[in-house]
Amino acid sequence: MKYRIITIDGPAGAGKTTIANLLARQLGCVYVDTGALYRGVAYEIKHRAIDWENDECLEAFLADLDLNFLMEEGNLVLISSGKDITSCIRTPEITMQASAASARPQVRLALLDIQRNIAQKQEAVFEGRDMGTVVFPEAAFKFFLFADLSVRAKRRYEEMSEEQKDMQRVKQEMEKRDADDSQRKEAPLMAASDAIKIDSSSLTIQEVVDKILKNIQKA
Ligand code: DC
Repeated sequence: MKYRIITIDGPAGAGKTTIANLLARQLGCVYVDTGALYRGVAYEIKHRAIDWENDECLEAFLADLDLNFLMEEGNLVLISSGKDITSCIRTPEITMQASAASARPQVRLALLDIQRNIAQKQEAVFEGRDMGTVVFPEAAFKFFLFADLSVRAKRRYEEMSEEQKDMQRVKQEMEKRDADDSQRKEAPLMAASDAIKIDSSSLTIQEVVDKILKNIQKA
């Protein structure tokens, strides 16, 4: 790893993407939302009707997968085989499929190189579930962001469009996803032993960013 990498891991709705984006802007580097890559895999599985539970089908599909990011006006654009799929990957169905597919070791391996290649080229803030533990164990700074389930569910609910809004469902799906992401065998969601843990339940986004910056500056 040539450049300085900052990792932010944590459960859904802890504020990782917004915080990684803001932090990267303040540091003048890029941010990488690795969950979007798992969502891209889920989108293609659905779109191409892949039998992803069958090893052979999954492996053939992954060999053909062509995912990458573009940065447009400070925001990430997810490109799959030349097509912008950014606006297609945030539905509840894709969310649950991304979590399910992320438990397959072949999927994790296929995405590992994409993530590490980005880190070879530039300084970056990477956010996800296994950034500090598996993908960048030697990162310069590691953070683990968490918050109460009810606070995280409320944040996600507020981001949803009127027709998608269903608090009970948001909470249930978030709880299931947290459990699945934490209990899977491959690269489960957990804090690296050397990560700084931040509870964002009662903090504003800027307060979290300031805490992270303070830790980076004092090192
Ligand atoms: O961060 P997100 O909600 O967009 O992530 C979607 C799913 O992708 C998440 O439930 C688990 C998986 N994921 C992962 O396994 N490892 C990562 N580094 C990022 C996401």
